Amino acid sequence: MLTCPICQQALSALDNGVTCPAGHRFDRARQGYLNLLPVQHKNSREPGDNLAMVEARRRFLEAGHYAPLAKRLAELAAGYAPARWLDIGCGEGYYTEQIAKALPTADGYALDISREAVRQACRRHKPLTWLVASMARVPLADASCQLLASVFSPLDWQEAQRLLAPGGGLLRMGPTRQHLYELRQKLYDEVRDYDDQKHLDLVPDGLQLAHSETLEFVLHLDDAQARADLLAMTPHGWRASAERRAAVIAAELEVSVSIRYDWFQRASFANP
Ligand SMILES: C[S@@+](CC[C@H](N)C(=O)[O-])C[C@H]1O[C@@H](n2cnc3c(N)ncnc32)[C@H](O)[C@@H]1O
Repeated sequence: MLTCPICQQALSALDNGVTCPAGHRFDRARQGYLNLLPVQHKNSREPGDNLAMVEARRRFLEAGHYAPLAKRLAELAAGYAPARWLDIGCGEGYYTEQIAKALPTADGYALDISREAVRQACRRHKPLTWLVASMARVPLADASCQLLASVFSPLDWQEAQRLLAPGGGLLRMGPTRQHLYELRQKLYDEVRDYDDQKHLDLVPDGLQLAHSETLEFVLHLDDAQARADLLAMTPHGWRASAERRAAVIAAELEVSVSIRYDWFQRASFANP
């Protein structure tokens, strides 16, 4: 199913890596992932989330603060019963692992542009195919996936549409305007009204919103490390002033978690 990120021809296994008929070769890293991000497709030396962000997110998620979000994501994914699926922007793989466990017989793939993230992610669940790759040039064949997951990540909607098999869909998980509201109140004089519908304007013709739901709960963070990690894994970690961030880390926090799940489905039959 893998395709060459340079010439788009099929990749096949060779020695400890993969190669295409044109002779482009990609090695498998010691940790087990494939690096399918050629240097000419990088816009910086180490694109994507850096080690500090990856580790903050891993600590926060491993502490279970967002466990209900992952549980519902995995239930929804299992309900769609894809034969092949891909997590786009998998980060350090917390949600990916939950999806993989809910879909034990499916053929699973996960990619992120951050090498640090994929290095950590691929330790989690060996049977998956873990890739360092760009979501703008996903090295998988057209119409190859019945389910795509996009969790708190940016998304290239045209690529997502290309990858979806007829009848397949994209499961997107993202914040509503209430998400972390009390935290944002503490960090900024004016809380920006976050538009949690704006992704709907980006949905290409051929994909339709078939299901939406919201999951909300209140998180009580009495651990300073958890508060510091929450800041470090979000843009608030660099957007807010140092004084406001220090004040948030210093005091217990009750904060709303509010997440929407959307399922965008590709029609079962292509238009003639
Ligand atoms: C907010 S994190 C979410 C990670 C994970 N889904 C989670 O929720 O724990 C966004 C992720 O998107 C990745 N990313 C950003 N731009 C990307 C791109 N062009 N291609 C692939 N991944 C990208 C980042 O490296 C980062 O790991």
